[in-house]
Amino acid sequence: MQQRYDEGAEAYQRWWAPVLAPSALAVLDLVAEPRSDAVAPRHLVDLGTGTGVLARAAVRRWPAARIDAADFSRGMLAVAGALAERELAPAERRRVRWLQAHATALPFADGSVDAVVSSFVVQLVPSRPPVYREALRVLRPGGRLAFVSWLADETPFAPHEAFDDALDDVGVAAGDDEERLDEEARAGDFVSVRAASDSLRRAGFRNVHAEARTLEYGWTRERFADYKLRYDEHSFLEGLDRSVRRRVERRFRERIALLRADAFTLRAPVVYARGDRPG
Ligand SMILES: C[S@@+](CC[C@H](N)C(=O)[O-])C[C@H]1O[C@@H](n2cnc3c(N)ncnc32)[C@H](O)[C@@H]1O
Repeated sequence: MQQRYDEGAEAYQRWWAPVLAPSALAVLDLVAEPRSDAVAPRHLVDLGTGTGVLARAAVRRWPAARIDAADFSRGMLAVAGALAERELAPAERRRVRWLQAHATALPFADGSVDAVVSSFVVQLVPSRPPVYREALRVLRPGGRLAFVSWLADETPFAPHEAFDDALDDVGVAAGDDEERLDEEARAGDFVSVRAASDSLRRAGFRNVHAEARTLEYGWTRERFADYKLRYDEHSFLEGLDRSVRRRVERRFRERIALLRADAFTLRAPVVYARGDRPG
């Protein structure tokens, strides 16, 4: 998976990060919630920062905070660093560090961090409890972990189905990346909001709260085609014979041309969860 992120970092930033970004950014609101008088964090960790969406926003939101943005993918960190170079002022950049680190081995002293935030990462780790334990270790007493992740959802999304149907039309078996990823050991999407809050309580967090929301993203037909062909199914398509690939792509475009414009709006359930290290 690390390699997949390394190799796909530019494409991730272009095609997938915009889908996640608004939902990711809402995690920062959970750092203080529901305490309107909460003290601003001085040391915040963005766990699985990817291309840095939370880290860039956090550095602007809390002008006195140091942000450590950690990810195990050097490729993602390289894109994050380049974006920070372009989008952050020099003084803001000095408050962010991009660190290659695994979620279960963070390079911070015990009790040294005010908040750990994370967007769309805890479904990818092989097991959540060791990640929670590591967050508890680095958090100061009263410090907070807040994350957003996917809720399991089987609702069909017609534009995705159009791709699978195109494979059928051309007679290509779908042994795709998604399937390969599913075979990898990963914790997976939360089965319910309750499962998310229970997992935090069992790990030892207190003041736990979790709630469901909906991630909504409106693709245009063309942008969805680009996302699907250049990012989501890119490596699978690369593995096909060139003429077969062309036929799949053509058939896919024909199929999505038949869909109504509003079919390209994704609505997917996500869970926001937070919990505090006991004081
Ligand atoms: C779906 S991306 C989310 C990135 C970013 N937080 C966002 O919202 O756009 C998942 C990120 O988690 C990182 N990641 C996955 N498992 C990890 C682990 N065990 N330790 C550190 N980073 C991990 C990946 O490299 C990738 O950058």
